[in-house]
Amino acid sequence: MSGIRFHVNGKEHRVPQSFAATTSLNEYLRESAGLNGTKVMCKEAGCGCCAVTVTLAAPDSDKLKTFSVQSCVTPLYAVDGWQISTIEGIGSQRKGYHPIQERIAKFNGTQCGYCTPGMVMNMYGLLHQKPNITAQEVEDNFDGNICRCTGYRSILDAMKSFAGDANIPDSKAIDIEDLNMNLCPKTGEACTGKCGQSLDLQLNDARWYRPTSLDQLSKVMKDNKNKKIRLVFGNTSTGIYKDDGPYGVYIDLHGVKELYSYEVNEKSVRLGAATTLTHVIERLKANQKKPGFKYFHDVSKHLKVVANVMVRNGGCIAGNLMIKYWHKEFPSDVFLMLECAGAQVEIFSSTSGKKETSSMMDFLNKVDMTDRVLTAVILPCLADHVVYRSFKITPRWQNAHAYVNAAFNIPIEGLVIKGRPSVVLGGISADMVHATKTEDFLANKTLSPAVLKEAYTTLRDELIPTQNSLEATPKYRKDLASGLLYKVLLSLLPSKSSQVRSGVEDLHRPTSSGLQTYQEMIYDFPIHKGLPKKEGPVQAAGEAMFVNDMPKFQNELYAVFVLADVASATIESIDASEALKLAGVTHFFSAKDIIGENNYMFAGSLFQLTPHELFASKEVFFNGQPLGLVLAETQAVATTAAKLVKVTYSKICTPVLSVEQSLAKDMEFKDARITKVVGTPDEAWKTVDQQVEGTVKMGSQYHFYMETQVSLAVPSEDSIDVYSSTQNSDSCQDAAAQIIGKPLNFINITVPRLGGGFGGKVFEPAMLTAASSLAAYLSDQPVRLNVDLASCIRIFGKRQPFVAKYKAGFTQEGDVKVVDVEILGDSGYTDHGAMYTHECIHFMDMGYFVPNWNIVGKVMQTNKKSMTPTRAPGTVPGALIIESIMENVAKALNKHPVFVKEINLYQKGQKDIMGHTLNNCTIRDVWRRLKDIAEVEGRLRQVEAFNQENKWKKRAITMTTCKYHMNHYGPGLGATVTIYGRDGSVAVTQGGVEMGQGLYTKVAQGVAHVLGVPWEIIKVKPMQGISSPNSMVSGGSIASESAMQAAIGAAQILKERMAPIREKFPDADWKELCQKSEANKLDLSARFFNRHELGGDPVANYHTYCAGVIETEVDILTGESQIRRVDIMADYGESLNPVIDIGQTEGGFIMGVGCFLTEDTKFDKDTGRILTDGTWNYKPPTTKDIPIDWRIHLLPDTPNPFGVRSSKACGEPSIGLATGALLANKQALEAARKDLFGAKDFIPVDAPFTPEKAQQSVGLDESVLAV
Ligand SMILES: Cc1cc2nc3c(=O)[nH]c(=O)nc-3n(C[C@H](O)[C@H](O)[C@H](O)COP(=O)(O)OP(=O)(O)OC[C@H]3O[C@@H](n4cnc5c(N)ncnc54)[C@H](O)[C@@H]3O)c2cc1C
Ligand code: FES
Ligand code: FES
Repeated sequence: MSGIRFHVNGKEHRVPQSFAATTSLNEYLRESAGLNGTKVMCKEAGCGCCAVTVTLAAPDSDKLKTFSVQSCVTPLYAVDGWQISTIEGIGSQRKGYHPIQERIAKFNGTQCGYCTPGMVMNMYGLLHQKPNITAQEVEDNFDGNICRCTGYRSILDAMKSFAGDANIPDSKAIDIEDLNMNLCPKTGEACTGKCGQSLDLQLNDARWYRPTSLDQLSKVMKDNKNKKIRLVFGNTSTGIYKDDGPYGVYIDLHGVKELYSYEVNEKSVRLGAATTLTHVIERLKANQKKPGFKYFHDVSKHLKVVANVMVRNGGCIAGNLMIKYWHKEFPSDVFLMLECAGAQVEIFSSTSGKKETSSMMDFLNKVDMTDRVLTAVILPCLADHVVYRSFKITPRWQNAHAYVNAAFNIPIEGLVIKGRPSVVLGGISADMVHATKTEDFLANKTLSPAVLKEAYTTLRDELIPTQNSLEATPKYRKDLASGLLYKVLLSLLPSKSSQVRSGVEDLHRPTSSGLQTYQEMIYDFPIHKGLPKKEGPVQAAGEAMFVNDMPKFQNELYAVFVLADVASATIESIDASEALKLAGVTHFFSAKDIIGENNYMFAGSLFQLTPHELFASKEVFFNGQPLGLVLAETQAVATTAAKLVKVTYSKICTPVLSVEQSLAKDMEFKDARITKVVGTPDEAWKTVDQQVEGTVKMGSQYHFYMETQVSLAVPSEDSIDVYSSTQNSDSCQDAAAQIIGKPLNFINITVPRLGGGFGGKVFEPAMLTAASSLAAYLSDQPVRLNVDLASCIRIFGKRQPFVAKYKAGFTQEGDVKVVDVEILGDSGYTDHGAMYTHECIHFMDMGYFVPNWNIVGKVMQTNKKSMTPTRAPGTVPGALIIESIMENVAKALNKHPVFVKEINLYQKGQKDIMGHTLNNCTIRDVWRRLKDIAEVEGRLRQVEAFNQENKWKKRAITMTTCKYHMNHYGPGLGATVTIYGRDGSVAVTQGGVEMGQGLYTKVAQGVAHVLGVPWEIIKVKPMQGISSPNSMVSGGSIASESAMQAAIGAAQILKERMAPIREKFPDADWKELCQKSEANKLDLSARFFNRHELGGDPVANYHTYCAGVIETEVDILTGESQIRRVDIMADYGESLNPVIDIGQTEGGFIMGVGCFLTEDTKFDKDTGRILTDGTWNYKPPTTKDIPIDWRIHLLPDTPNPFGVRSSKACGEPSIGLATGALLANKQALEAARKDLFGAKDFIPVDAPFTPEKAQQSVGLDESVLAV
């Protein structure tokens, strides 16, 4: 056969040699096999949405294994003979859902649903490996699946419901029948997984081999010795090093049986090079109790935090070591641990045909691997007196590479070190492996406090960390490495003080748990009912359709932006001739091809937006700015071609990347400056007892929607049909029409749903819609513009960074009387950011009454993309500023912040910063109840006691508030409700966009209530511009309730229209009633437009109030932290759907945790390019960053007179509460500074407060490293 053969969901697929060697299984599934249920986002094995399971047996075994892998890095030609299951194969609407799909839907573990198929398939693989799973194992195995919407708790609950030991209602273990038994479709017997044959394929771009023995491998390598060869196993390394290659020859090692060896004897354990990291862990655990191998316990524990479960399933030990070999700077945990243990590698030379063993260091530095293959790793037995420990310190809990990693092998008897220890470090520099001077120093020493101190100093002296913009600072990496040495030596010394011994242990994270309490108001059912999301099952089965899942149109072209690679320059020329020569490239368009106006922003009734060029015509303002668009027949060709477009620039300037630099260069948009004075601040300053000053800094945040931005434009009869992933269909319609100079009725827009938006799809998709529509119009072909993750991060606006300087005056009791603030908001290259500074000012009071304010908001220009709304763009900075002020006041008064904040809470009837009278304010009620339920006062005492007992671990608790003013801005939303007369089924279309917030569910609840029909017979259809024109943007938390109100209005019209028929036929069931209505010529379709005049204050219709209690613990030596417990109480009035609203609260809070603790955006200071442009470097929270104990309570018995059905909005308020995670960490660090130095200072607030910033804020030095 001239190709490969494999099975997907039991069906045979034969693939010829016509694909490129680099084609991934994911591309094949989605683009050729029509299996779009498997999603794609990062293409770097870092997000998990592309998970599938594979079933195969290793060549040395008859035992089939099923496990999950990331299809985005799995090469298509590697799957010959494999059996693959995708989300479509395990369950569907038609065949019936699989229990995992049912469970995740039932537990409301889906919001936008984009991550869901990956979650399900990861669990499916896991249950194959371990049907009797424990809750802890479930938690440990979701390290590689990112969900931006849910906050993970609901997903983990759903998955833990399969665990025998989980305390989850409705738990039930998986039935073994529900796990596909892998029957071979050919024989009907259990699949042997061995259909795989040796392969020799001449592909389009390279030759692909799959040898089945070392001899064959050797021959292939010899035959191709002059070509660039790539040995391939899991291919996961392409997730990190994407630009290695190109290669002429690929050799798949999966079939080489000699690489799978496993031998154990008294002296060593030998693992074949192709042993996956998952199997390495299993094998080490199997031997860890044997004499000499107890260090396997530490190694396997450490391996469990290497990469993520799917990388460990697919990637092998040799692959990891070879990454280190080719990229010396790679902080390989595997190499580190093996070298420290004195392991060896076995290497086969294809030239000599011989094997040799080599030390790890010789392998790394002396062996030429170009004609060689790793065949095995040999782990030695270590003497009983050896103490072995290893560490990995990372920016988030899991699936992150190390800032610094370290392994120690110390032969010690009593306190005497017997010989030379091994101290191996990663993350310092490409050259540094061993801390040789420290090893020399410690050799044969008798440990004592003095020796410890000298070892510490010796290590510091020999460390010279490299400096680059992406890594943590050299100082932190040095501090970390020496801190880890201190931890180890401390563990070996008898310490008098139990306090000091807290430096020895790592932070311990038990299995997490959650609790949710809420009230369901039955009078309005199914409104107010805690129903799971309506589309949960189809999302869980991969059947929910996103724009990029739409099948390819005839003649469709793929578009890729050409991006500026400088941040400030004049364009001299753009030359696309080389790109256009590439086979498959059809067009290149730039500014000069624009027919209408070169501007993708619009000026409508709601927003007056500064014009933004679609393609830069003369000046470049930020690195990543689109300069043009390449069209080609495939995505891959378009991507390659875009890199061939040559741009010449003049006047290239050093970019301005911070507000401080902007201020120094006088780059304020002075016309946009905002000033706000409330009360009489000047007078108030005369009356205060004390004052504090401080600075609050916050960086940016990328939205990290799992569905990257996409627009598909299809020329049709008399117009262009546009499919867009936008929160703002009108803006896209406007931009598309504007760019080609046509009226709005030339653009038919459809928005099926979004894989997350978070504000990032409010303004930015207009750019894509304009570009794809222009391209479709000019080429007269359908054009798909799907922007990859790295480009999304480079091109699109993000959360606005800022620096705020404040001064607050207060009484002795802590009553804050006056605040002066100057905010410098980073607006990007236009003044577009002014609106977020504006919002920040309006949200700055949060739950606290300050009678006098004097605020200046400066809108600063930088060489970055204009900032854009990002979930709660006003409350996030506002919360950070006011909560920091309150904490600073408390510090000055030597009081706990909880008590100072409490004094300042709003009382009913007070006027807020915007001048609204808060007649219905519930913040005091929320606060009081929460404080009681969360037992804050008792826990404060416990924290105090803990901190006294522990020098190197500190805990803290704080409370935070939110007052979120809900503004029903814009014209409103319309809905059309249609009843099909023949059977009574109901369809709704409306102007809101479903992006995970549960809008469709709430709409269906409203219609079901009015019509008195079961909600199951209602379908909510995708938003379309023709049926829902002039729709307001779905953002600012208002769309769900507004769309529901519109649908209720339309349903009400129908109900009234049908009333006479009902009167005539009081006993008719619903179907009969509908049939009779149709027979009586009633129009069974009605539209209602919900104008935004809900009553109450004309500017803020009402306020949502929440409060949170956050307890954290910090490791002072490393800066790592964990959130021990969070309690949130939210006043959502009579929640429209408490289950969905709790999901929004959890998701918002965790997005806040990312903003305040882990998500750091870094730039190249010379080119202005964003360096954190993928999952390897940008770190949104994962499952173990969530609170260990997480309790959400909705305030009962509080109907909202101004909200839809007495409810309140919930999408954005909770995110600001997460400031508490940062502030609690800071309090813990301040407690450490007090202990260590007697300091009483207030550590500056700087978000994201990464482990690096946290540890560095303590200012440790050797004088305090007591024993
Ligand atoms: C998201 C992510 C996170 C990660 N995090 C970490 C981490 O925290 N710490 C860490 O240490 N690692 C980490 N890794 C690295 C991971 O462990 C490796 O990607 C994996 O082990 C590589 O195995 P593979 O089979 O996929 O190798 P491949 O990608 O197939 O190959 C990698 C390299 O090894 C070569 N190669 C493979 N087998 C052989 C052989 N037998 N002989 C000679 N050359 C060979 C290949 O030619 C290639 O150069 C991470 C990877 C990813 C994708
Ligand atoms: S798309 Fe494969 S892991 Fe992200
Ligand atoms: S539901 Fe997980 S990313 Fe949206």
